[in-house]
Amino acid sequence: MRSPAALAELEREIAAPGAGLDRLRLTETPFVPEVRLHLAEDAIVWWARMEADAGHTLPPPYWASAWPGGQALARHLLDHPGLTAGRRVLDLAAGSGLVAIAAALAGAERVVANDIDPYAVAAVTVNARANRVAVDVTAGDLLDSRVQADLLLAGDVLYSPEMVARVLPFLRRAAADGVEVLIGDPGRGHVPAEGMEVVASYPVPTTEPFVESPVRRVQVLRPH
Ligand SMILES: C[S@@+](CC[C@H](N)C(=O)[O-])C[C@H]1O[C@@H](n2cnc3c(N)ncnc32)[C@H](O)[C@@H]1O
Repeated sequence: MRSPAALAELEREIAAPGAGLDRLRLTETPFVPEVRLHLAEDAIVWWARMEADAGHTLPPPYWASAWPGGQALARHLLDHPGLTAGRRVLDLAAGSGLVAIAAALAGAERVVANDIDPYAVAAVTVNARANRVAVDVTAGDLLDSRVQADLLLAGDVLYSPEMVARVLPFLRRAAADGVEVLIGDPGRGHVPAEGMEVVASYPVPTTEPFVESPVRRVQVLRPH
């Protein structure tokens, strides 16, 4: 699946959403109500229907949920517009585009959102449109390249040991090159405390299944 085909598919889904748990719905982000996103009523049910329709497996629709790490980072950007104003921003592993959209709303000069999932690239496009902001999208894996931006944002990207092994060196290299790097991390237990400054901490309402606490404590981190 390429990004234009994924975009056409999401546009069809949005135009005729249906009424079940397998629909997309334009909704306020709980911790960032300034941003509205097309999210799945239930991402697992949406995924199951899309796979059944396609007749083959599809990547997990991470873009169809607003992850706590992204919500905290987006909140931080909107509450501290000096971080983004007039700067070139890259949102790595953008998912729905929440963080990228918050950066655009906070006055960034240019925002690029990157993700390897074509559906995420499409979701950023429809979500940027819904919030009337300009966000450029780029598909593909940037983790072996150098960052062309002033501010690099990574919301809920360090969610597995495999991701940490690839993403953390990329973030550290960018920081060493003089790029400001901010990470939104809900404490999934994979991020070493060493070499990380805690910039802020937010109580983000829980939207994930199987998490019983009503809020999740999320840190905004800066590698140094
Ligand atoms: C948990 S989601 C977080 C999405 C978003 N940043 C947020 O906070 O809502 C992780 C995202 O990482 C993306 N991803 C995984 N590996 C990647 C890579 N090598 N480069 C870019 N994105 C990647 C996935 O496709 C997924 O959209």
